[in-house]
Amino acid sequence: MTRHIDLTAFAYGLPKAELHLHLEGTLEPELKFALAERNGIELAEKTVEDVRATYRFTDLTSFLAVYYPAMQVLQTAEDFHDLAWAYLQRAQQNGVVHVEMFFDPQAHTSRGVPFENVIGGYRRAALRAQDELGISAELILCFLRDFSAEYAMATLMEALPYRQWIVGVGLDSDERDNPPAKFAGVFARAKAEGFLLTMHCDIDQAGSIEHIRQVIEEIGVDRIDHGTNIVENEALVEVVREKGLGLTCCPVSNSFVTEQMKAEEIVGLLRRGVRVMLNSDDPAYFGAYVADNYVALAEQADLGPAELAQLAINSFEASWLPAGRRSAYVERVRTYAAEQGVQLPA
Ligand code: ADE
Ligand code: ZN
Repeated sequence: MTRHIDLTAFAYGLPKAELHLHLEGTLEPELKFALAERNGIELAEKTVEDVRATYRFTDLTSFLAVYYPAMQVLQTAEDFHDLAWAYLQRAQQNGVVHVEMFFDPQAHTSRGVPFENVIGGYRRAALRAQDELGISAELILCFLRDFSAEYAMATLMEALPYRQWIVGVGLDSDERDNPPAKFAGVFARAKAEGFLLTMHCDIDQAGSIEHIRQVIEEIGVDRIDHGTNIVENEALVEVVREKGLGLTCCPVSNSFVTEQMKAEEIVGLLRRGVRVMLNSDDPAYFGAYVADNYVALAEQADLGPAELAQLAINSFEASWLPAGRRSAYVERVRTYAAEQGVQLPA
């Protein structure tokens, strides 16, 4: 007989990897105020409620218009450390045991903050997470696609002395009129330098399917961020399924930048054997960390614990961990499910 399962507790306790998380998107209003005070910055908003009142997003562009100005409070290596450390502690409470975290150096270097402050602070938090929380934390450097390919290449060159600290490179920010092919040269160079590759193909963008085709066929990515619009093209779904390419889905984020979580699309892909998993994207802005995304999708699409466990298994299989550690984590998910009385397919 199956025991009654508290799905929220099951989702929180499920060992999981988070693969789509923007560190700058973890800036909670309370920390924003603390950093503003530390750096002598006067903010337009006076209370946490004032800050949250500015979170009125209808699409990616309106989200980014709130997101970038908030970063002015991040200046010293200590600020970047404190931001990442606060996230990593919340990640632990959400059952995260491995995370590959995006960071946007150009959002800081473009306003005069040295690259080394950004990477130095984030790296110190990542090392501390391993020591104090038992979480392995890696960094993915994202280029801002609304800046030029030349600026992206210069940023890649600036990152090379730190290559041991960076597992891969990604592409984010405003997708409109900024297709993946614009950065083909930068990503070819990054690949030659030994970085793994991922790119955002955001939800319901003009040219979504063409962009997904480009990241697979022209860039040769190792993973795709979002990519949910792939459901519109059977042949591409078959390609990602065959290749085992991960799609890093973010249901709660989707519900902020479009009208829905895209639950039907995500669950449809899961049930077809595509390597989808759930992530929080910018949790401070969308009010949901990764386990909350598992709970939200389960409620929306009526998923049970076995499918949540499959999503967690996918999170490790799509991660950039060495193969031995990937399979050890998959075994940990299976053991956890068995302990909770949940039967998984062999
Ligand atoms: N930067 C932070 N979050 C993002 C998202 N969801 N899409 C594109 N760029 C982003
Ligand atoms: Zn994102």
